Amino acid sequence: MNQKDQYAVIGNPIEHSKSPWIHKRFAEQTGEPIEYGRILGPLGGFEKEARWFMAAGARGMNVTVPFKLDAHAFANTLSLRAAAAGAVNTLLFSPEGVRGDNTDGVGLVRDIEVNLGVSLKDVRVLLLGAGGAARGVVLPIFDCAPAALTIVNRTAAKALQLVEQFEANARESSVRLSGGGGDIIEPGAYDVMINATAGSLDAVLPDCDDRAFGAATLAYDMMYSPKPTVFMQHAASLGARVTDGLGMLVEQAAESFFIWRGVRPDGGAVMRELRGELTAKA
Ligand code: ATR
Repeated sequence: MNQKDQYAVIGNPIEHSKSPWIHKRFAEQTGEPIEYGRILGPLGGFEKEARWFMAAGARGMNVTVPFKLDAHAFANTLSLRAAAAGAVNTLLFSPEGVRGDNTDGVGLVRDIEVNLGVSLKDVRVLLLGAGGAARGVVLPIFDCAPAALTIVNRTAAKALQLVEQFEANARESSVRLSGGGGDIIEPGAYDVMINATAGSLDAVLPDCDDRAFGAATLAYDMMYSPKPTVFMQHAASLGARVTDGLGMLVEQAAESFFIWRGVRPDGGAVMRELRGELTAKA
């Protein structure tokens, strides 16, 4: 009998994770022989669970809240983007050891550029937030060669720390990088705004000057939600094009699948199907 390769997502909580559904679709689409489950990791017990899964012959894992830092520490080697993010969402198990990667940022830019058809090249991007989620997307955004990236955070010092961390990369990529509190927003509507704050979870609108939004702005909330988030509602009321982060969720999964299997699934098709399911349930 052909044994399928085993993968899983680990998190706490985990029951609402869409990843098993998404990877099942990818496996059907590509014919790759995989099985993908979910693991409820006990708080403080990441390493034990990961070692147990590895010992059972598994090939890799996705890692979600609150274990992305534990996975970063657990990996023997890291991709550049995982090292820069300081967090790991994808583990690859092989005889050489455990490789940690972070596919969140690439998932975001693929959703923006491929699914939404908005090129990031030469545009002005405003990133709201300076926590782990924001840190993880900076390098992949630079890879798209925007003209400028402005990082705005409620706590200005954290945005300035990110500017310091990524200053050299910005210079290399010829991106104008700035950061601080709300007062540093440049005049004129931004082409793309990304809400990477945790505000949407609590239905809180991050502080942002209304003049940053325009009719040609894409306002992207990294959270996904069956109903428009407060950030999306606000941006839409100012005339911007809005989206949630469902496409990012599917595309980060597609990149993990590619890392594991060397085959790139069609994320757009799976995203549209998942959107349909979620809308039907809402
Ligand atoms: P994550 O891993 O989701 O990024 P995090 O590292 O705790 O989580 O970062 C949360 C981010 O959301 C931070 O940028 C935080 O701003 P502060 O650095 O000022 O705390 C931001 N955030 C959380 N709640 C917010 C709110 N109500 N308004 C604005 N920003 C908020």
